[in-house]
This record gives sequence, structure tokens and C-alpha cells, in this order.
Amino acid sequence: MHFVEVRDTTLAYQSRGAGDLAVFVHGFPLDHRLWLDQLDALGDLRQCVAPDLRGSGWSDPVTSRVLSMEQLADDLAELIDNLGHTTADVVSLSMGGYAALALWERHPDRVRSLVLMDTRSGADSEAGRAARRDTAERVAGEGSGVLVADLQKALLAPGAGLAARVRLRSMIEATAPETIVASLEGMARRADRTATLSSITVPTLVMVGEADGLAPPDVAEHMAELISGAGCVVIPGAGHLPPIETPEAVSEALREFWEKADG
Ligand code: MLT
Repeated sequence: MHFVEVRDTTLAYQSRGAGDLAVFVHGFPLDHRLWLDQLDALGDLRQCVAPDLRGSGWSDPVTSRVLSMEQLADDLAELIDNLGHTTADVVSLSMGGYAALALWERHPDRVRSLVLMDTRSGADSEAGRAARRDTAERVAGEGSGVLVADLQKALLAPGAGLAARVRLRSMIEATAPETIVASLEGMARRADRTATLSSITVPTLVMVGEADGLAPPDVAEHMAELISGAGCVVIPGAGHLPPIETPEAVSEALREFWEKADG
């Protein structure tokens, strides 16, 4: 692992390859290990960096009760600076996508291209916010492991292999309850960034697992329609976590997208 000071905290990150920077932003309640296969597959094209977001993985713990998407975005902007780059290709999944849209809104000059995977631009409904707060209470009382069974069912396609199940379990169990609680509240409070989509001027690819029940293909296709020139790739056989469910298909789609963007 590598470590870098970012704003008021220390972030851990894994890195492969050299050249222009690509930053891989994980979802909830996960860590950089979501992207290990893509890091191994794409290091010949980019310096591929997968950070643990504030409070996740090997990064320092959260110090506040709410982890906002704006805070995550500001961390990513400074991470790009502190790694010695001015811009990055940003690859994001789910909550990582909420942070990536906030990054585009707040620091567009840092974003060279954007991949939005299994995510959405809208805010939570009232019912969605209430469900997050119920989950936060359970986790605060019983620990992170209480989420494993529900999330394995909700995040993975029915036929997901053992490797994906084991990696998911290990990431959930390694995430501190405080981080889960703060992330849930940050997501509950996040802004609707649908209007931001039409402001995106960098090459963008929207990707989604065909069996994603949380941010399904129709949501992805609608987002892609609102972003000028964006492509949309639906990944067969994957649910909400294609990077660990169908790693080769994700790496291939990223390779094709970057090679096209490079001209
Ligand atoms: C994620 O994978 O990051 C979460 O499913 C996002 C969410 O709960 O909205």
C-alpha cells in the first residue's frame, strides 16, 4: 500500500503502471480492492490508482458523523494534485459515481474523462433516506457484518462466483461502522446532480451490469442520453459490482474507451 496526505487526513492507495493518471473510485461500503483486476489489466495504459476513500480500507478513520459527496470530491481533487498530476481519467462506481459527479461540478479542470458505473445522478427519495437511517442504526448497534447477507443479495447477480462473494464480504467486514454510518448519511443528503450531466464536456462512458437492481440499465441509459457524446455499455452477467463479477469485461470496456479517447 501507498499513503498520501490529503487535506486533513491520510489516504491509502494501490497503484499499478505509469503515465497519465487514472483514479478508480470505489462504492459503498467497499475499498480499493474492488478494482484490483482492473489495476492489473490496465497498467500498460495509465498509472492506475485506486484509493481507499476517507474512512475506508487502510485510510484514516472518519472524524465526522456525515461523509458528504462534496468532501469525497475535494479529497479526490487534492489526491490528483498530491500524486503530481493536474488531471485524471476518473472511473467510478455507485457512491464513487456520486462523488465523481460532485468532482466534476466542483473541480472540472481535474477531470480528463469520466466513467460512471452502476450509479445514478438523482437524489434519494424520502423512503430511501429513511431506509438508510434504519440501516445506520443497525450497523451502529450490531457492527458492519450485519450487512453482509443483505448486500451479497442486493449487489451481486444471482450467479455470481465465489471469488466475488468472498471479496465483497471481506470489504464490507473491513469497513468501520463509523464509516458506514457517515457514508449512509452523506448519501442520504446528497444533491440531485441530474442537471449537472448536460454540463459534462469530457469523454464519458456510462457502464452498468445487466442485472443491477439498484441502479438498473434504464437509469444508466437515461444518464448517457443526458451527457453529450456519452456511450453506454451494458455488461452481461453482472449485477451492481461488475469490476469483481465480470472483471475482464470491465477492463476491456475501459481499454477500448481510453484508446478511443487517446485517438
Ligand atoms: C454503492 O454501491 O456505492 C451503494 O449501493 C450506493 C447507494 O447505496 O446509493
